[in-house]
Amino acid sequence: MTNASTPSGAQQTALIVSAHPLFREGIARLLGDQAQVIGSVASWQEVQGLGLVQAPDVIIVDHDSSDLQEKDLTPLLWPDADDLRVIYVTLSGDKMTVHERHQVAGAGEADLLRALKGERPGASARSTQETTASQPIYTVQPSQGRMERMDKGTDKPKYTRHFIVVSALVAVVAIISVIGLLAVPKFPQASTQALVVDWLMDLHLGVIGILFALVMVFMLYSLFVFRRKPGEEGDGDHFEGNTKLEITWTVVPLITVLIFGVIGAVTLAEVTAAQDDEMTVNVTAFSFGWQFDYPELGIEKATTLNLPVNQPVLFKLRSLDQDVIHNFYVAEFRVKQDLVPGVPTQLRVTPNVEGAYRLRCNELCGTGHTNMLAPVNVLNETDFTAWVAEQKAAVSPEALAELGAGLHASQGCIACHNVSGDPGGVGPTWKGLFGSTREFTDGTSQVADEEYLRNSILNPTSEIVTGYAPVMPANYADVLSEQQLDAIIEYLKTLE
Ligand code: CUA
Repeated sequence: MTNASTPSGAQQTALIVSAHPLFREGIARLLGDQAQVIGSVASWQEVQGLGLVQAPDVIIVDHDSSDLQEKDLTPLLWPDADDLRVIYVTLSGDKMTVHERHQVAGAGEADLLRALKGERPGASARSTQETTASQPIYTVQPSQGRMERMDKGTDKPKYTRHFIVVSALVAVVAIISVIGLLAVPKFPQASTQALVVDWLMDLHLGVIGILFALVMVFMLYSLFVFRRKPGEEGDGDHFEGNTKLEITWTVVPLITVLIFGVIGAVTLAEVTAAQDDEMTVNVTAFSFGWQFDYPELGIEKATTLNLPVNQPVLFKLRSLDQDVIHNFYVAEFRVKQDLVPGVPTQLRVTPNVEGAYRLRCNELCGTGHTNMLAPVNVLNETDFTAWVAEQKAAVSPEALAELGAGLHASQGCIACHNVSGDPGGVGPTWKGLFGSTREFTDGTSQVADEEYLRNSILNPTSEIVTGYAPVMPANYADVLSEQQLDAIIEYLKTLE
């Protein structure tokens, strides 16, 4: 096979310039009989020495020879040859990369062929199409190796194969990722809201699994399959961008995000919608504890959150703190809400599975954050009614002390006051406190009787025990009911 006919009908003439004999030989070999090599020299000076009367059709210059600048050549030899074609080329192995194009349109290795054919910028695209319609632009001997790649037709099947492999891998990895993500165990569902939230969460996990597969497979495949192989030293293939791909990876994520935005808004509206027959529970948070008022039932300052099953509940949330945000969160209910100082917030939950759960503060709020817990019981109607009745009945001293022990934990006292007798807590230990003599920073002292204990809880900074800092919150008059205050004092009496 020989080259396609050039516009002039005559064979093109080529001049090869490089300081390296191997480069000159390699290019001459690649050109074969596609062009007539009229000179093969090491420098511009040698070009002069050739004494060429007419400029060659194309000058192929070694890109790695930095002293071979086109501006030095053209005025020197052929000042009038303004359409002289000079091509800078890197040769590594049998692979040729075209770096700079002069008087040649397009990009990549194919430029060399266009130059050899005498095509001009602008005209090249059209004439190429016309030529390919009837015959190949350029045919090469199999022995000419990578020169084959200049024919675009042979690139396509090669990349199509990669694309098919990558698509299959993405599909497999996506399926495994999604199955794996959905298999991660969640807390049991215990509210109607949890169903909707989990559905949306699973939808997200599905998309995350697919995205993970897309990114990882493309990256790892490229790293391994297109890595530089031993002996390869040239540059990689040159790509000028891909409009279709760029539009795809812009539009697809945009639509995905918009769809999720709409689904998210609809779900949020559904989860927070008011319902008939709501029971109100006022939730008060403080550093570091919770209490619950049931205004419709006349129950105040409960330390356990008891709820009847299948009863829609409206939680009205407020914080006693001035500067700390807490968060109301029962994992099995899924939904949660911040308690912001000065800003009343609310949350709607319909518990639908009987059981014992736990309210956790879900906002890092200080040293007692991990202790900011409260038991949550979802009860059947009989049990709930019994609990309501119990809340209103009178209590014995033993029961009071027991209640006080519970308050010690649930109201955050435990964060500073241990009951083990260990010194070194933030506040004095409660063990043996009742009846002991307290010495204060102002030099006075007093025996810890009931009145003293009540005053230290309600006005914690009025007398500071020697050795301790005045850090106790002064809001217990709001936090504790009279009965709870009695319960704590009763509990202190038992800690001898
Ligand atoms: Cu309150 Cu963390």
